[in-house]
Amino acid sequence: MQFDALPPGSHPGVIYPPYKSTVKRGPTQDPVLIHAPAPLTTNLAAARSLLLPHDADLTAHGQAAPLGEKIVVTGRVVDEDGKPVRNSLLEVWQANASGRYRHKKDQHDAPLDPNFNGWGKMLTDDDGRYRFVTIKPGAYPWGNHDKAWRPAHIHFSLFGNVYAQRLVTQMYFPGDPLFAYDPIYQSLSDLAARDRLVSRFSIDQTVGAEMLGYEFDIVLRGRDATPMGL
Ligand SMILES: [Fe+2]
Repeated sequence: MQFDALPPGSHPGVIYPPYKSTVKRGPTQDPVLIHAPAPLTTNLAAARSLLLPHDADLTAHGQAAPLGEKIVVTGRVVDEDGKPVRNSLLEVWQANASGRYRHKKDQHDAPLDPNFNGWGKMLTDDDGRYRFVTIKPGAYPWGNHDKAWRPAHIHFSLFGNVYAQRLVTQMYFPGDPLFAYDPIYQSLSDLAARDRLVSRFSIDQTVGAEMLGYEFDIVLRGRDATPMGL
């Protein structure tokens, strides 16, 4: 399927003026169509070698439990035909419970947590499922405009099984009051596409008295594709 056949507004444009930095970095020339060679499959052995024992438990990277609300996030990754995207590398990164990234460019006046790095990675299983344990991230200010605060979100990077399935996006939490004020979320004019970026609370995935569960299914390519993040 050609990219321009997708429903309008179902992916962010490369330039969206309310999100100010896209004006500086977005390409102003038309894209060049590349006739790609036969798709290359992911080097699964290489991906497996990247994984460390606690990569899928972001609460297990310190000497003690991090502060915040422990949650589990799980979902299924499928292709445009609904078939599972198996054994593919998925990376996540996020702010801590106070809304602060462990990154030198994050100067938000909120505390770092010595027990929380905020990044993890995993492979999907034979049914395309992934699952990781983490802390619910906090909202954070980002200086795009007056009172600019990002809704709580987790960044996702998916490699899929072929290069054309590559996706970098963001997962949100249901009912966030900041959606209405966030230019990144609002850059999608298709309301159904926006919904595809919002996880859903799951009592089935909730683990006893330990953590609440959220489900976030992902579609790589096609008309129902999970939108890219700007
Ligand atoms: Fe972020």
